[in-house]
Amino acid sequence: EAPRALPRDLTGLRVVISAGGTREPLDPVRYLGNRSSGKQGFALARVAAQRGAAVTLVAGHTDALPPPAGVTLRRVSTALEMQAAVRAAAAEADVVVMAAAVADFRPASRADHKIKKSDDAPDPVVTLDRNPDILAELVRERRAGQTVVGFAAETGDEHGSVLDHARAKLRRKGADLLVVNAVGDGKAFGTEDNSGWLLAADGTEAPIPLGTKARLAATLWDAVVVLRSG
Ligand code: CTP
Ligand code: CA
Repeated sequence: EAPRALPRDLTGLRVVISAGGTREPLDPVRYLGNRSSGKQGFALARVAAQRGAAVTLVAGHTDALPPPAGVTLRRVSTALEMQAAVRAAAAEADVVVMAAAVADFRPASRADHKIKKSDDAPDPVVTLDRNPDILAELVRERRAGQTVVGFAAETGDEHGSVLDHARAKLRRKGADLLVVNAVGDGKAFGTEDNSGWLLAADGTEAPIPLGTKARLAATLWDAVVVLRSG
């Protein structure tokens, strides 16, 4: 992409962005995780900082990505750690974007020693507890004037299309904006390009053409600027 002057239209805005995946430990050496690369969240942070925002990036596990220049980076591992870090930062933020892949469940207990297999004992069964829904909690505890943005990676299934699922998720979560990525067949996870839809709580729906994650970031910040000026 050719370098071009970016508008400084986020100057004065305090934004919090979560990125990457959480890891939920089973024992000292094993965890439940996911394939999030963190690239989209890092791109959101980089572009926001370039456009003048004060950015806190709460990063779970990511590919080896260079930290964006000029942002405050907080590293977390589990969903509960991400919840605490995002809540603390959100208390003083104008915009919060949940781009992280937060594990929905965590092992109900974490062994303090490495789990061993044994021919004398039955194989272990992993019981899972539900993690808090950080985005839904942000919406419930939202400060006056705060904008809350969610991400959703959806596939179509027998219950509906990608867009059907996304519309229902936006309503359920109560966010102002939902970025929807179509996933499956190698789309989105770890790739350089994203496409999808941008859904707003007022019913507005805009397609996001296939492009770089920086391009999608610019599109989202444009929408945030419009939303907050309306
Ligand atoms: N999210 C969150 N906390 C969770 C799970 C998800 O804050 N425990 C956020 C994600 O960061 C994302 C949005 O919620 O911005 C949607 O995540 P997604 O996994 O698509 O939604 P879920 O409500 O978990 O629904 P599903 O059963 O489809 O996974
Ligand atoms: Ca989920």
